[in-house]
Amino acid sequence: MKDSSQIGILGLGAYVPKRVLTNLDLEKMVDTSDEWIVTRTGIKQRHLASPGEASSDLGVKAAKKALEDAKLKPEEIDAIITATLSPDHIFPSTACLIQGELGAENAAAFDLGAGCSGFIYACTVAYGLVKAGMEKVLVIGTETISRFVNWQERSTCVLFGDAAGAAVIGRVKEGGIYGWDLGADGRGHDLLKINAGGSREPLTAENIASNRQFLSMSGPEVFRFAVRIIPKTGKKALEKANFEIEDIDWLIPHQANSRIIEAAIESLGIERDKVFVNLERYGNTSAASIPLAWTEGVLEGKIKRGDKLLLIGFGAGLTWAAMVLEY
Ligand code: COA
Repeated sequence: MKDSSQIGILGLGAYVPKRVLTNLDLEKMVDTSDEWIVTRTGIKQRHLASPGEASSDLGVKAAKKALEDAKLKPEEIDAIITATLSPDHIFPSTACLIQGELGAENAAAFDLGAGCSGFIYACTVAYGLVKAGMEKVLVIGTETISRFVNWQERSTCVLFGDAAGAAVIGRVKEGGIYGWDLGADGRGHDLLKINAGGSREPLTAENIASNRQFLSMSGPEVFRFAVRIIPKTGKKALEKANFEIEDIDWLIPHQANSRIIEAAIESLGIERDKVFVNLERYGNTSAASIPLAWTEGVLEGKIKRGDKLLLIGFGAGLTWAAMVLEY
């Protein structure tokens, strides 16, 4: 796979909504404590979209930054793939709303649903589209999970935040995407889901009264799944790229829980100072988490052009994904 690459990252960008909700704020809303949240998750605060601000709005802002970074105009984009589990609507796709708002008139547009693994899934699809002849593909992970969280349910509402991250993928002179691994285990579809509002269980007064329109999760099972799958998918992507873990400058894991990241450091055998973590400020922003962390790492001057990166995601589906690339 290494020889056939030369498809990589032309630009990156991220956006977080302004409003901040701290653990101390949450203490006033549900029976929880800053100490519990920090010890169990590492999260100290998260950003929330304002009323009226939807996933496409966040996505447009991140996309504009990625286009600016890539020095491209919206008309130069051939396709937009939006990874999200909190779309503006069931249909049309959030990608179409973003395409219209950007004025990316030459771009095909579609959403991709792979939970928190969505950004890496979408980057892999973008890689394939460029291989198949497209020139520039815009990938966006954008979430307003705050709209789908039950703010009275302490075991889930403390975990998530809203954000968007974007990358433009196209031909590059050096580096690029070297290998990836994608996977799913649909037998775990019940572990992390929104029960009502789709074709299986349309919204009714009864299921709304039972809060079935909100995100539900079996936390410990998802935790165990994440700890098991991260080294597996990470090692597969490294193998496909013909890389050793020592070749990696930065691991950017999905920012769900610091204890999951600790387990990943141990099982992958990577040095702690090569792992980029920002979940304390944003919580779990699902498909936005990896591009948000990546962009922040670049803006902080830590992650540099030419660095070898290992991205690892996992989430609802259940799904998982890993990618090795030279930025
Ligand atoms: N504040 C205080 N107590 C809380 C709480 C909160 N916010 N949320 C749950 N608790 C309580 C539970 O009610 C339970 O109490 P009990 O023992 O009296 O029944 C206790 O804490 C332990 O709950 P448990 O769910 O076993 O905790 P845990 O150690 O597994 O941590 C998670 C819970 C959610 C932090 C953890 O399971 C997790 O991170 N899972 C993965 C979630 C994830 O990353 N999902 C997204 C994947 S993309």
